Order: sequence, then structure tokens, then C-alpha cells
Amino acid sequence: MTRFAGKTVVVTGGGGGIGGATCRRFAKEGAKVAVFDLNLEAAERVAADIRADGGTAQAYRCDITDRASVDNAVATVHDTQGPVDVLVNNAGWDVFKPFTKTEPAQWEKLIAINLTGALHMHHAVLPGMAARKTGRIVNIASDAARVGSSGEAVYAACKGGLVAFSKTVAREHARHGITVNVVCPGPTDTALFADYKEGAGNPEKLMEAFTRSIPLGRIGQPDDLPGAILFFASEDAAFVTGQVLSVSGGLTMNG
Ligand SMILES: NC(=O)c1ccc[n+]([C@@H]2O[C@H](COP(=O)([O-])OP(=O)(O)OC[C@H]3O[C@@H](n4cnc5c(N)ncnc54)[C@H](O)[C@@H]3O)[C@@H](O)[C@H]2O)c1
Repeated sequence: MTRFAGKTVVVTGGGGGIGGATCRRFAKEGAKVAVFDLNLEAAERVAADIRADGGTAQAYRCDITDRASVDNAVATVHDTQGPVDVLVNNAGWDVFKPFTKTEPAQWEKLIAINLTGALHMHHAVLPGMAARKTGRIVNIASDAARVGSSGEAVYAACKGGLVAFSKTVAREHARHGITVNVVCPGPTDTALFADYKEGAGNPEKLMEAFTRSIPLGRIGQPDDLPGAILFFASEDAAFVTGQVLSVSGGLTMNG
């Protein structure tokens, strides 16, 4: 399939688990992929894999919490790979502790990465998309935003904020032909989830509990996410905006 032939796609946190799988899938479907990550080595590994597989990708060091870094990376993409057609805000980070055991400095870091970072990215790409009267934005939140999650209070607040922000921007920019939708992963086997398991104290028990409570009987793998993300980014979703889709093996079925 070449649904994204010639399209320039930016994926933040593209060097990570879900981000890397998403970059690879976009490249398979013909996109020119811009792999943004704070960890340049991880981004370069993903871009090199894609190129070795015959795809088109370029790695960029971008700290989404730093507006100058975002502006610089987005301008370089524009000059070298073309205007941004699709933005996937996927970079994220968490610290796993009951709320009363967390410190304000941790809240600030959580908010900077999980909320403000996505705002910087929207602010950097939306004017160009609006001028071209086309664009697709897919934001990666979490089921924690929809139903809460013990040990992730501030992270859940950020992801809930990202959902509300996405719906508002979707309304503001519908007249520009831009859609904004949200994918909420459930527990997915990545570095971030490994930290969560460690934070829970008893990783094996936690895995057993998740496996029992997920109707489809397993935790997610990074490759479970790109299908939903690419759908929202595709022409098939041209009439879909401001929506939230959980990809969690049925763990949550609310509303
Ligand atoms: N894995 C899960 O169980 C799970 C569940 C729900 C939601 N999510 C969300 O999915 C997304 C991807 O997470 P993942 O599980 O693949 O984690 P991951 O740790 O594998 O990847 C996250 C990536 O974000 C990058 N990153 C962190 N801070 C950054 C910054 N300031 N600027 C740029 N890049 C930065 C990291 O370097 C890393 O490559 C995140 O938004 C996460 O909150 C994950």
C-alpha cells in the first residue's frame, strides 16, 4: 500500500517503541518520515532501518519541551523533506508513584513532556497546515486519560489535557481542512511500560493481572498501534475529527 506516497510525516518520540513501529509503518506506505527524538541515536537507528528497507527517513534531535529545538527541527524538515503533511505527537514519559509521593519538580517535567511538548509541536506546524488548507494530526494519549491509572496521576492529567486540547484544536481548524484525533494505547510492551512494571514493585504479578483483565488476553505490542494511527492520518479518515480511540485489547470499554 502507498497511502502516504510523497507525504511528509513527523513522529515525535520516533526512536521509542510505539514511535518506531509507527515510523516504520508510515515508511512502508510510502511516506517521507521525519523521526524526532530527544535520543538522536535511537532516532537514527529507526531511520537507518527504514532506509535499509528501501524507505525514506531522516532522524532529527528534537527536545519537544524546548520551543527553539522544535522550531529548528520543523524548519529543517520543511527545507529538506517538504512541508509537514502529518504530525504524530507520540513522545512521552512517566514516573510511577502515588500522587502524594511525587514532587512538584516531577510534575513540571511530566507536564513539559506530556502536555507542553505537544502544544509546541502543534504551534509550530498548524500555521503552515492552515495556509495549505490540509493537514492531519494524531495525538498519542493513554487510557489513563479516559479512566485514570493508579501511580500515574499527573501523567493522566496531562493526557486528559491532551484529549481536551485535541478536540478544541480540531474544532478551531476544521475549516482549514485539518483533522486532529487521539489514539489511547493501553499497556504496551515498550521501555516506558518496563519502567511502569518496575515502579509497581512486582512486575510478574502485574503482568498476570493485566493479562487476566485484558479481554483479548495479552498486553499490547508496539505494532498493535500503527493501524489506528495511520487510519486517522489517511484519506479514509477525512471526515473524522476530534475523536478518541482506545487500542488496549478491550481493557477499557467506557463510552
Ligand atoms: N507503553 C505503554 O504502555 C503506553 C500506554 C499508554 C500510552 N503510551 C504513550 O505512548 C507514547 C509512546 O510511548 P512508548 O511506550 O513507545 O515509550 P518509549 O519510552 O518506548 O518511547 C518514548 C520516546 O519519547 C522520547 N522522548 C521523551 N522525552 C522527549 C522529549 N522531551 N523530546 C523528544 N522525545 C522525547 C524518548 O526518547 C523515547 O524514544 C507515549 O506518549 C506514551 O505516553 C504508552
